[in-house]
Amino acid sequence: MIKQNTMDFVSVQQALDKGKGKTRIRGWVYRERKSNQFIFLVIRDSSNIIQCVINKDKISEKIWNDANKILIETSLEIEGEVKKDDRAITGYEIQVSNLQVYHYAEPFPITKDQSPEFLLDKRHLWIRSRNLTAVMKVRSTVMKAFRDFFYKLNYYEMAPPIFTPLASEGGATLFEVKYFGDKVYLTQSWQLYAEAAIFALERIFCISPCFRAEKSKTSRHLAEFWMAEMEAAWIKLDDLIKIAEECVSYVVQTVVKENKKELELLGQDIEKLKKIKTPFPKLTYTEVIEMLAKDGIKIPWGKDIRTIEEDAIMKHFDKPLIVTHFPKEIMAFYKPRDPTNPKVALCFDMLAPEGYGEIIGGSERDINIEELKKSLKEQGENIKNYEWYLDTRKYGSVPHSGFGLGIERVVSWLCKLDNIKDAIPFPRTMLRKYP
Ligand code: 4AD
Ligand code: MG
Repeated sequence: MIKQNTMDFVSVQQALDKGKGKTRIRGWVYRERKSNQFIFLVIRDSSNIIQCVINKDKISEKIWNDANKILIETSLEIEGEVKKDDRAITGYEIQVSNLQVYHYAEPFPITKDQSPEFLLDKRHLWIRSRNLTAVMKVRSTVMKAFRDFFYKLNYYEMAPPIFTPLASEGGATLFEVKYFGDKVYLTQSWQLYAEAAIFALERIFCISPCFRAEKSKTSRHLAEFWMAEMEAAWIKLDDLIKIAEECVSYVVQTVVKENKKELELLGQDIEKLKKIKTPFPKLTYTEVIEMLAKDGIKIPWGKDIRTIEEDAIMKHFDKPLIVTHFPKEIMAFYKPRDPTNPKVALCFDMLAPEGYGEIIGGSERDINIEELKKSLKEQGENIKNYEWYLDTRKYGSVPHSGFGLGIERVVSWLCKLDNIKDAIPFPRTMLRKYP
């Protein structure tokens, strides 16, 4: 076992778990209240918070004077006796016998009732808050569970390039970057490179940053987000959908198991999440249009389903919904036509419940090189740029499929967030690039 800290102390959670006896913790002051006789400090570390009480009569004058200078976020070490106390915030209290300050904090700029914009300006400090800490822990579990799921299915992790010469999801949202006197783009998705790599590895996945110059100021779009993607040879739409729903169910159940404390802190209903198990409901795009029409929302066949329509349809479901067979004309160039109904593509989206929107987009990949060229031309792309990609259809082409899951969309849903910006430590949107 590697010892995580070389100094002799325990985490706040370990002190709480022990519940009695001598203990030494390190952390930051989360709250402080001073009187003539007592100083109450609530100390936080990454694991939890605990109340500590300093009694003037029980410590030296020096420690009392030091403690009187303590403001919120001061970093310190505390030694004392833990005991049960039902009045204390986490049910236990430390009677302080010794205290050493590492750094006296200046007055912390974040006080009660700050505007969301102010908190975003101070994000580098605000990430210390209990809610954001909880969200970051859930996010870590989501990524770990996604990886575990695919490792168990014998997939390989494959890293994509981030600088790319072409678009996978259409030119409108590309970020241009200067590149040694030339220009490239920041990747929108690893997919096109994954399609090349399945010829070597057959089953692959990745979790990687993706970039979209989204001009929308919605609560669901980031300019920089993380996508968890998979791609596999020899699988068709039905198998792909099965993998996607099993994957989401596994991720949700892992979070339920490992982040109970965090979900409770965030006000999430754990029993509700426990019900997110396969099979998920499935409808075709056409069936969705018909259902919406019954609700009085008319969309002409062939138009994309927008955010408000996604929300309307999800009023009928409390599990994620799989929508398949979207109109070919509004889909990315690589989604193939359904041979039994050429107006639609062999693809699916997964929509999260409660208005958290599209969490997954996936499809079979077109292996007909002439169809691919036609779709690219129709979308105004220069075929020449896609030469390397089209090569993958020339040397032993095979049926293959894949999907991409938006990490922040899933984290927003599981953590019940109002805005996707809180699902990533340092959000990037059209209007936010600082700090
Ligand atoms: O549906 P999308 O655009 O699909 C692709 O990019 C495919 N190439 C993926 C694949 O098949 N390998 O994006 C996939 C998911 C969406 O369902 C959504 O959850 C998320 O990525 N996403 C965003 N999340 C936050 N901000 C944005 N601007 C996003 N754009 C997509
Ligand atoms: Mg999509």
